[in-house]
Amino acid sequence: MKELYCVIGNPIAHSLSPAMHTALLEQNKLDASYVPFLLNEASFTPAIEGLKALGVSGFNVTSPFKEAIRPFLDQLDSEAAACGAVNTVVVKEGQWIGYNTDGVGYLQGLQSIRPITENDQILVLGAGGASKAIYHALKHHTKASLTVANRTLEKAMKMVEGTEHRAMSLVEAESQIAKFTIVIQTTSAGLTKENAELPIRLHDLTAGTIVSDIIYNPAETPFLKEAKIYGAITQNGLPMFVNQAAIAFQLWTGIEADRELMRNTVLKQLGGK
Ligand code: ATR
Repeated sequence: MKELYCVIGNPIAHSLSPAMHTALLEQNKLDASYVPFLLNEASFTPAIEGLKALGVSGFNVTSPFKEAIRPFLDQLDSEAAACGAVNTVVVKEGQWIGYNTDGVGYLQGLQSIRPITENDQILVLGAGGASKAIYHALKHHTKASLTVANRTLEKAMKMVEGTEHRAMSLVEAESQIAKFTIVIQTTSAGLTKENAELPIRLHDLTAGTIVSDIIYNPAETPFLKEAKIYGAITQNGLPMFVNQAAIAFQLWTGIEADRELMRNTVLKQLGGK
């Protein structure tokens, strides 16, 4: 029988996950569909129970349900447990297992630029869901020194509590920017007319610093534009988006995903807008 995969979120209409996963399912000649479902607070629980009753094979969870899904899971992978958020649910022998592939997906993209070493000083801007996933992946899989800077300092302090890593304000991060070898932008600052200010300015950035932004549309955010002016090596959010999906696809099917196909599928959709 045809298998069902899906992504749940709100909003969901513009998600490029269906296009990317459909391309992979077709390439691998799997008898399966991947569809988007728009849920809200009222429909969330019945929809999740419906997915269970229908025997969904696996699904992605996006904003704002990455935490709300947790009570419905039988198990949590260590990465998802550490950051408290789930973006991928794998169904194995009837058990629902929650994973978070965002952080490792991000890290794979970063490591495609160069290996991360214990000499790296990494600054993570923001302390929301995406920041937490990235921070935990960096903490678990690298030996770099980490600093989390956030507008609301308490949230950054909570993230690094009990570790050797540091928290600071955005003002401090801006004044100390020269010492960082990698800067990761996860905030929503600078992206809309209502939120037009960059989280920090980069005029003291050391040339050659890696600066990445988790946004991939637009391909070059105002933050990356500024980073380029000061000689940064820049990366947008496309590798993270492709990699998190590739890891999810492999968890569901056991098949290694063709990341080039995924990347081209996303770029085609973006170009076709
Ligand atoms: P996500 O899940 O995408 O990471 P989120 O959880 O809503 O999104 O987090 C948004 C992040 O952007 C937060 O770190 C937020 O800072 P606060 O914790 O102080 O709210 C940050 N952010 C949003 N607008 C900002 C702005 N104008 N300047 C600086 N940081 C901003």
